[in-house]
Parts: sequence; C-alpha cells; structure tokens
Amino acid sequence: MKPINCIVLAAGKGTRMKSDRPKVMHKVAGRPLVGHVLTSVAAVNPAQVALVVGPDMEMVADQATKAGLSSYRVALQQDRLGTGHAARIGLEALGSEAVAADSIVIVLFGDTPLIRSETIWRLAQQVEDGAAVAILGFNAAVPTGYGRLLVNDTGQVTGIREENDASDEEKKITLCNSGVMAFNSKVLSELLPQVRADNAKGEYYLTDVVGLAAGRGLRVAVETCAEEEVMGINNRLELSRAEARMQQMLREQMMLSGVTLIAPETVYFSMDTVIEPDVVIEPHVVFGPGVKVESGVVIHGFSHIEGATIGAGAQVGPFARLRPGTALAARSKVGNFVETKNAQVAEGAKINHLSYVGDAIVGAKANIGAGTITCNYDGFDKYVTRIGAGAFIGSNSALVAPVNIADGAFVGSGSVVVRDVEADALALARGEQVNKAGWAARFRAMKQAAKASKTAK
Ligand code: UD1
Ligand code: CA
Repeated sequence: MKPINCIVLAAGKGTRMKSDRPKVMHKVAGRPLVGHVLTSVAAVNPAQVALVVGPDMEMVADQATKAGLSSYRVALQQDRLGTGHAARIGLEALGSEAVAADSIVIVLFGDTPLIRSETIWRLAQQVEDGAAVAILGFNAAVPTGYGRLLVNDTGQVTGIREENDASDEEKKITLCNSGVMAFNSKVLSELLPQVRADNAKGEYYLTDVVGLAAGRGLRVAVETCAEEEVMGINNRLELSRAEARMQQMLREQMMLSGVTLIAPETVYFSMDTVIEPDVVIEPHVVFGPGVKVESGVVIHGFSHIEGATIGAGAQVGPFARLRPGTALAARSKVGNFVETKNAQVAEGAKINHLSYVGDAIVGAKANIGAGTITCNYDGFDKYVTRIGAGAFIGSNSALVAPVNIADGAFVGSGSVVVRDVEADALALARGEQVNKAGWAARFRAMKQAAKASKTAK
C-alpha cells in the first residue's frame, strides 16, 4: 500500500464552547478531543502527520506525543481562513517528500473524537484502489449545518455544497460530509491552490476540492459510517453526548473482557483504565486517568480512583478515594472514608476506616486503625511515613512525618507519634488517664440540688 500521511485540523477557536481553553483540548473520558483523533490516526501507522493549530495552542502538540505518533509536525494557521486554507498549511508541513511520493493524504478534524481507525483505513483503501478523493459520508438525522454530497443521476459525486451556499432543494439532501477525506497526494496538491473563497462565508473550503476533482473526470468515492462515529463537538451539550457514548463503549468493552459492572451506567472510566478479568465494580465508581486493577479485586460503591495500581485480590471502598501515586499490593484492603495519596501499601495490609495515608510506605500485613492520619505536610514540604511489616497503629493516631515505625511495633490508640518507634516496641504518646472515684455521682448530686433550689423560689 502507498504511504499514508495525515493532516489533522485543529486551529478553530471553538467559540461555541465559551471557554478559555481551545475546543480540541476539552476532554472525553479524560482525554482531549484531539487526543482521541490522533490516537486513531496513530493506529493507521502514518508516515507523517501534520497537526494544524492556531496561535497560543502549543499544548495541543503534546497530544501527538501522548497518542504515540512517532513522527509529526505542528503547523501554525495564524488566520483562520477556512478548512481549505488549513489543509494547505498542513500539506506544506507534511513536506514535499510526502506529496511527491505518490502517497495517500487523509484530512481529519480535531473535534470528532469517536472516529475509528478502521474507518480511516476504509477511506485510504479507496484511494489505494484508484479514487482521486474518498469522502466519509453519513446520513444525518438532521442535516442542518453540514456540507451535502451532490450526487448525479449515474450515482457519481459531483461536489459538496456547504449549508450556507445550498439551495432549498439541496438542503433536503441528507447524505452529508463528515469532514474526513482521503486524497491522492498529487491530486490534493494540484487542486488545493485552485480553491477560491467565493462563497457565502468568504472562506477557503476544503470541500471544493471534490467539485474540482469531479470536474476533471477524476473518480470520487464515498464510504459511509454511522452518524455518531463522526459526531463533531462544537458546544458542551455535544461534548456531554460524546462522553455518554464513549462511556457506553468503555463499559461494554470492560464487561466483555471479563469485568463485572453491577450498575454499568453509574461507572465512569478513563480511556487508559486497565482492568483485568474477574474484577467486580460496584455502583458509582469513578476511574480518573492512570488506573490499573489486577484480577480478583472488588471495588465497592462510591469510590474515586486515579493514578493508582491495585494488586490482585485487593478490596477497595465503599467510599474510598485513591489518589495519584497509590499502589496497593495483592490482598490489601482500603476501606470506607479512607484517602490515600503517594502511598505504597504492601501485601495484606489493612487501612479499613476513616484514614488519610499520604507519602507513606506501609509494610505487609500492617494494620492501620480507624482515624489514623499521616501528617505529611508542614505547609511547605512533604515528608514520608514508614510503617513496618506487621505493625499495628491504634485508632485515632497522628503520625507526624518524617517518622519510621519499625516492623511489628504497636502504637497506642490516640497517640501523636513524632519520634521513630523501634521494632516490636509499644509507643504511647498521649495524656495519662486519671480516674476519680465517685466524681460523677458527686457532680450529679450538686447539679440536681442547684436545680431544686431554683424551682422552689
Ligand atoms: C465542515 C465541512 C462540512 C462538514 C462538517 C462536518 C468545510 C468547508 N465544511 O464544516 O462539509 O459537513 O465540517 O462536521 O470543510 N479549522 C481550522 N482552520 C480553519 C477552519 C477550521 O483548523 O480556518 C478546523 C476546525 O478547528 C475544525 C475543523 O477544521 O476542527 C472543521 O471546521 P468547522 O468550522 O467546524 O467546519 P464546519 O462548518 O463544521
Ligand atoms: Ca464543525
């Protein structure tokens, strides 16, 4: 097959998002819109990719690296003069080698996050098979706003008409342009400069290349896909619809790969969530980016997990919050109202209730009692708490870091531990208890007598 080059157009401001952030950086399942597109692009193994961005959009380029693209170039479109103009800038950025070497050039939009690599392949295949242009079309339930595919009596595509330039008759056409198009590189480089901005919007339309190609008798092919796959995101309502659809797909993939979701519609994943088979996830669990869960884990309801690895057979929640840097080893337990951050919890250790464990290393089979807090921060710096294997931390203890509690040590309940505790020792760091015999009875008698004399008056 001919080499494939891709141009991703992402320079639009996205005014309808009403946001300081570029539209394509808004996220679906924890990944920016353009990151989704670039991930699908990376899967077709392109020789070169040009990412067309607007001014002040440098952060968009990171997405190309994150998507795993080995080679890409970022091109700046200073003035947004239309998709044809943007494509030209992209084509220049691809470089003359890409264009001269009879390649396939695919143009995609940065705001269509659900596009699949299989679909991109189908378009490329059409050009490989001799089409000058291949358009990804779809039948729109409501075509308003889209470019319409003009098809003649013999079924040939003769052009694309943008909404603003369409006659009433043309507006009735429901076969629309998704925006994804594949071109023979030579055809594109020859025809793009011929595109004129003589239309209602005064923009250079990429779509005009189709009419120019058809006019020369070149073959224009159409592939179609489901409307939702090419859903373009222009505002936050559409963003939420894309999120809903993506979550539905992620849930289905999880379940089919062996993960039990008791109430799938209440569980939220990130694109990079990795969960092994035989994990049970109860209702209302949220997975932020960077989570890996091994087999046999149960995640109880209402837990929030990000940047964490959870070892085989561990139990989490209900109502647990695992923050970045948490690593739970096999068969450990983190229970209700426990927050962990930057914490390594070794095999079989238990933090069952109401604790904050941050910047901590917890040894195997250690038991952290209810209400234990690692005091890891002094307002400026953070410090580590080490808890040895088999150590037992009594409830309601404050461990003031930096502090080491060695293997097998005990900390008495309610202690504020500021000094290291040696192995197998007992640390008691709390006020000594004083019991005063008969005090309560005397107190009550005094109070009752005072009350009686008041009511007698
Ligand atoms: C475009 C198509 C239309 C298609 C529709 C599908 C054209 C002329 N029209 O219309 O046929 O049905 O998408 O959603 O191509 N962009 C730039 N620079 C620019 C202008 C746009 O990079 O100067 C980028 C935007 O960031 C966006 C994409 O191109 O990612 C599409 O631009 P947009 O203005 O949304 O095009 P539509 O009017 O939706
Ligand atoms: Ca659009």
